[in-house]
Amino acid sequence: MQPMSCGRSENLDRQVSIQRTLAVPAIFLLSTIRTIAYCGVDENRAIWGKALFFETRLSANGKISCASCHDPQRAFTENKASSSDIEGRPVHRNSPTLINAAHMDVLTWANPLLRKLENQIIVPLFLDTPGEMALIRVWPKVRSEVLAQPPHIGMFRAAFPEEKAPPDTQHLFAALAAFIRTLVAFDSPYDRFLAGDKKAMSEESLKGRDLFFSTRTACGECHSGILLSNASKSEFLKSKDPLSPSPARDGLGQIIQFAHNGLYNWDGNGGVPAKSEGLYEFSGKPEDRGKFRIPSLRNVALTPPYMHDGSIASLEAVIEHYNQGGLNKCKAKRKCKAAPQKHPSIRPLNLNSTEKRSLAAFLRSLTTSTPPRPN
Ligand code: HEC
Ligand code: HEC
Repeated sequence: MQPMSCGRSENLDRQVSIQRTLAVPAIFLLSTIRTIAYCGVDENRAIWGKALFFETRLSANGKISCASCHDPQRAFTENKASSSDIEGRPVHRNSPTLINAAHMDVLTWANPLLRKLENQIIVPLFLDTPGEMALIRVWPKVRSEVLAQPPHIGMFRAAFPEEKAPPDTQHLFAALAAFIRTLVAFDSPYDRFLAGDKKAMSEESLKGRDLFFSTRTACGECHSGILLSNASKSEFLKSKDPLSPSPARDGLGQIIQFAHNGLYNWDGNGGVPAKSEGLYEFSGKPEDRGKFRIPSLRNVALTPPYMHDGSIASLEAVIEHYNQGGLNKCKAKRKCKAAPQKHPSIRPLNLNSTEKRSLAAFLRSLTTSTPPRPN
């Protein structure tokens, strides 16, 4: 099958057909978004990618698949603060949603260099320390005894008709990436409201929307655009919501994609707990300690616990964190002053309990009623 062309009308039909084949419930997407979402996805690759996503034999111990940490019932996340690798060792990161992950400009919590799904997938699949799946240890055997056998070989041939050899690593990456590109959902009450259904959102959640996009809370300056994340691709940064402010920029005029949101000030001097260095691991700049990618808030009600290390259990607790101007947690247990690199928009908000409830109601209105459930 040919990769999908990017012509508008033909594309919409093909998108619906891909969703049917994958048994993803039809979702009433805004047509422009849907066009971007599926443009270029090869249906047969997505079908094989789906099978690979649930294949536990791709892990060194035969027990872990991508879905172990990205559970379709939880918007493709895991209900654990930190994922564990095949030896049960923590990977020190909370598993992020894969819905709309194809539209993020930077991937994972804090790696500014990972921008393509095909490249990101190498990490859980092949790396050994930590070894989320550690396929490297058993690759020759899996290649000949699993991937070159039914049912995989048939799906591989359909996905890559020109290839004669048994499946190779780049085919796995391409097929899994194609599947992830089909995981899009834009039918939340908030989307329906923006599309003109004025009854789609409750009064309470509309008040929360006003607060979220206000200069008082500044939430929308970091969680901006269609995905409510400054770290999404540029075509998703322009929101249909007239209240949504433009994304915050740094001194050089660049959109801020990574920020310190006041979670830690471990040593009282801007330090962070081990494994929470964030952007600093890549830049080596002290002011980048504890800076993480601004996550999308779509489907956030389905994805507890929260933050890069899953250290906040509920949406209410997240709102309390922001209300206090950041938890600013420090080693010494007493409340520390804020870290110097904390973003200035994170400051005490003095929200009353009605306002806190409204904000939570708005975050809950971002849940798609038909998250893609490929089964
Ligand atoms: C052991 C748990 C685990 C397994 C297994 C796993 N992942 Fe992940 N995944 C994670 C965690 C944790 C992150 C965040 C990593 C980070 O920030 O460094 C992540 C991040 C991702 C991202 C980036 C999403 C984004 O918004 O940036 C993608 C895409 C992804 N995983 C796909 C996959 C695929 C495909 C597989 C199977 C080949 C897989 N994962 C297997 C835990 C897992
Ligand atoms: C300065 C930018 C910034 C502002 C302003 C901001 N956030 Fe965040 N938000 C972030 C970053 C960065 C993270 C991830 C931090 C981490 O993992 O350590 C985050 C995480 C979250 C999460 C957890 C998402 C998940 O999947 O774990 C929620 C919910 C959230 N923010 C809601 C809000 C709300 C509500 C407001 C306003 C009261 C707000 N944010 C204001 C940058 C910001």
